[in-house]
Amino acid sequence: MCGIVGYIGTEEAVPVLLNGLKKLEYRGYDSAGIAVLGKPGLVIRKSKGALKQLEEKVAAELKTGDGASLSGAMGIGHTRWATHGEPSDINSHPHTDVSGKIAVVHNGIIENHGKLKAWLEAHGVIFRSETDTEVIAHLIDFHYNGDLLLAVVEALKRLEGSYALGIICENNPDRIVAVRKESPLVVGSGRGENLIASDVPALLEYTREVYYLEDREIAVLYRDRVEFYNEEGQGCKKESSHVDWDVSAAEKGGYEHFMLKEIHEQPKALINTLRPRIKTYAVKSINLEEIGFDGSWVEANRVVITACGTAWHAGMIGKYAFEHFARIPVDVDIASEYRYRNPVFNPRDIFIIISQSGETADTLAAMRMARKSGARIIAITNVVGSTLAREADLVMYTWAGPEIAVASTKAFTTQLLCIYLIALQFGFLRGTIGGDVLADYIDALENLSAYAARILDGKENIQRFASRQFNKSKVFFLGRLFDYAVSLESALKLKEVSYTHSEAFAAGELKHGPIALVDESTLVVALCTQSSLFDKMDSNIKEVKARGAATAAITYEDVDYFDKTVDEVFRIPHTLDSFTPILSVIPCQLYAYYCAVQRGLDPDKPRNLAKSVTVE
Ligand code: AGP
Repeated sequence: MCGIVGYIGTEEAVPVLLNGLKKLEYRGYDSAGIAVLGKPGLVIRKSKGALKQLEEKVAAELKTGDGASLSGAMGIGHTRWATHGEPSDINSHPHTDVSGKIAVVHNGIIENHGKLKAWLEAHGVIFRSETDTEVIAHLIDFHYNGDLLLAVVEALKRLEGSYALGIICENNPDRIVAVRKESPLVVGSGRGENLIASDVPALLEYTREVYYLEDREIAVLYRDRVEFYNEEGQGCKKESSHVDWDVSAAEKGGYEHFMLKEIHEQPKALINTLRPRIKTYAVKSINLEEIGFDGSWVEANRVVITACGTAWHAGMIGKYAFEHFARIPVDVDIASEYRYRNPVFNPRDIFIIISQSGETADTLAAMRMARKSGARIIAITNVVGSTLAREADLVMYTWAGPEIAVASTKAFTTQLLCIYLIALQFGFLRGTIGGDVLADYIDALENLSAYAARILDGKENIQRFASRQFNKSKVFFLGRLFDYAVSLESALKLKEVSYTHSEAFAAGELKHGPIALVDESTLVVALCTQSSLFDKMDSNIKEVKARGAATAAITYEDVDYFDKTVDEVFRIPHTLDSFTPILSVIPCQLYAYYCAVQRGLDPDKPRNLAKSVTVE
């Protein structure tokens, strides 16, 4: 989704803005632009396509000496992910009012922009772009009477939808006004300089002191201070937070792509997620006190899990885990479906909401519905200070470190670890798991990090396999129970980054339809880690083989059951059948990555996708 940066200080703004936008590229975009306010007034440069094109445009201008107009120590910048109007220079942000004195960058969707546009046109405004954002610039101008903050407060009263905004005005050259509602925006507070950005990595070169804006909260940034206001324009106080992770955590660190780096970070991320939650006194136990999880939570009658995409797949594994370990009914739902259904709530339900970013619009909407029903909410998220983290009753952070690649990898495996910990503790507190058994489960969880590292050590096998199979036009993943959920995630990964038509099927469903698709052009990857169902999977593999498909299996390293059935076997260390998703997904992540690279694609920036889906 769109990325916003803003800078006010003593340095030249252009390099700071371009640098910040670079850090936000992972969010997905199709055009970029900046507005700089200096001696010559407000100057805007935009370009369709990659940020590099904007950089080249600006560099050429600076080289020829025409760049003086781009000189200034404050400005705003934007990477646009088109929603209203095609990607083009004219639709790129910043957008201005008619006179060109007010410039606005926006992330989100203004739902009533059609109505506002008609109203503004009736007042003589002539629109230049097809965007919903342009109405904001004109509205602020409509209410502008010399005070930018007041004009923004008045304009916000008319806006419906979601927004993070950075606003500057030629007549107020000492301030940036920023505000958010349902779209992320962070304020960074430095020495003699202040910044805004859609995400923390864009700020880290300048400061580690950040303010996470609440919905409808307004920040006014001056060079030497930041003031905060509520939506009525009344001043309010706000605590800053210190970011303690390093800027290198958000950089590639020698890997060719973020996706590969993040796949390799999984062993470490799993340790970071697990360690603080384990007590190792006499008998090992789970410590969820840090998040405030006590006995009252396990009195629930039902657990409801909602999420989108990869996080929803983690939720599916959560269903199997809760049923298995805690013997409690679980519903798992796609957030974009859930929010428009008419679900039946029960006051004794608890909700688990999973989101890497903590900003996914559908997921937040589902959470707010649950909240209205009076249900209690546990959030599993990777982003400290995200909207989800702030609105939930309990937050369990995944501690995976920043995930930059659009395709989620380490966030998924650490989400799973969080879910296992909650499900096991649930079972323990409800009496479905004894203390000694729990200690054995914890031992098994503790082994997973080293096992993940072992799988990564053998990545060349997957790379070789991908170099032979990357051109397959159809790839199907099959599995049963926990393996079925991993199949869904594996198919998503492959389609996201390599644009291969890949699907996942519950292996038992094959004969109910999907087998009609299988022919010589198909690769079938069978996930085979559910020991009691090996014979069923073996039959399924033979069925697809008989129809000409190439086959591969992912199974335990000490299991030779499938060696004679499939063309290729990938092995993972032996753990509990119910914990295998954390391991068996890794070869599939690698396979997706290597297929993308073989196809000459950039796995970090898949077409049409955004890292954080902050609009519907
Ligand atoms: C994962 O590879 C995808 N990019 C996508 O499905 C993602 O998981 C989904 O958009 C949910 O994002 P969230 O976890 O930040 O809420």
